[in-house]
Amino acid sequence: MPVWRINGGRHLCGRIDVQGAKNAVLPIMAASLVGGGTTHLDNCPHLLDVDASVEILRYLGCRAVQEGDTIVIDSTGMNRNHIPHGLMMKMRSSVMYMGAILARCGEVRLSTPGGCELGSRPIDLHLKALRALGAEITEEGGEVICRAEKLRGTHINLDFPSVGATENLMLAACAAEGETVITNAAREPEISDLQCFLNRKGADIHGAGTPEISINGFSPISCVEHSVMPDRIAAATYLCAAVSAGGDVMLGQMNPAHLETICTCLKEMGCSIVTGRESIRIRSPERLRAPRPMITKPYPGFPTDAQALLMAACLKAEGTSVFVENIFDSRYRHVDEMRRLGADIRVEGRVAMVTGTAALHGAPVTACDLRGGAALVVAGLGAAGETDVIDCGHIGRGYDDLAGTLTRLGAEVTLIPGEQCMCIAS
Ligand code: UD1
Repeated sequence: MPVWRINGGRHLCGRIDVQGAKNAVLPIMAASLVGGGTTHLDNCPHLLDVDASVEILRYLGCRAVQEGDTIVIDSTGMNRNHIPHGLMMKMRSSVMYMGAILARCGEVRLSTPGGCELGSRPIDLHLKALRALGAEITEEGGEVICRAEKLRGTHINLDFPSVGATENLMLAACAAEGETVITNAAREPEISDLQCFLNRKGADIHGAGTPEISINGFSPISCVEHSVMPDRIAAATYLCAAVSAGGDVMLGQMNPAHLETICTCLKEMGCSIVTGRESIRIRSPERLRAPRPMITKPYPGFPTDAQALLMAACLKAEGTSVFVENIFDSRYRHVDEMRRLGADIRVEGRVAMVTGTAALHGAPVTACDLRGGAALVVAGLGAAGETDVIDCGHIGRGYDDLAGTLTRLGAEVTLIPGEQCMCIAS
């Protein structure tokens, strides 16, 4: 298994540009199927999840080529509407292909993503929404089959503002006759990026970023270009790294408005944060203070994807830092690993309480999921001595050259390659 070896205790200093967003590029790659034609995507990060998505597109009969930060997808030759289990298992976001293939072909067959490292990950909201559009859904031998001779626009109120269900619905609704209105829609910035891409491709979608999104059909445009938005969670990772290790770091090519809740916490901890139009500079203080409780909520609330990262940044903060995880059942798996580094953390149900310790020490730890794994790297940067983060392929799913980026800021991080094992994505 690959190991991230960190020699902690070095301050971070310098400027880096933030990668394109994993959670934006993946639904957009699926969306490239809608209406056919060619898609040029810029600012695509190099990630295992992007590789898995390229594999799916090729399996479906599309041409997909990644060169540098650009991916060109030609979906004209698409000749399959089925994704085999092995490909579905490689990443959770493959469920997004359901809405996209349904819109393109009127029928799709794929295996259910099943449980994963963040607890149970049902897709009931996706299926309920597609049914409301007129799809007939059956399950056979672990596969979901979705068929619709004709999809019809309607009003769909989501029981919970699920990111994936909102995206799947936007994709399928492109092929529906008449208007589809989604209420209680997820408001994450990646939904706005998907709307922007689909509108370039010929859709008529309004409202992304608000709880009400309307989709009014689609007139395909044969060749489109789009630049993927910056990754707010990767940006949060580097901010937390600067806090854990100490230092003065400038992030460029990002959108500070997407990190407001995180920056508020970091300021409460005593950090100096200066935002520009597309940048954030963070300077961490000698002594960190525990911030007010961090309660994860759908956007614009505190993101669940940043919970473990902020926890890593709080391990040495004076006082008690409190976390409440409301989005996923099983998102404290990094806690036991952080304790190995000397962290003092108590978990009761959805609440985790971190009592700041004066010093952390390096130790071997295991990455149990993508963000929890990155959080261990962040914690390792602030621990004295060597930390080995043993990783069965989680971290590379979400970070483009994490070791290289941290090294450019003065950290000592090496990725020691090993055999990849297969994991389901978050
Ligand atoms: C997306 C993000 C992930 C992030 C999450 C929450 C991508 C590729 N992944 O995941 O990084 O952590 O949003 O911000 O964009 N739920 C149901 N039934 C459903 C769908 C979801 O009960 O049909 C529940 C989930 O179990 C979870 C909650 O809703 O408890 C949030 O899930 P959702 O917003 O759908 O997250 P994802 O789209 O899977």
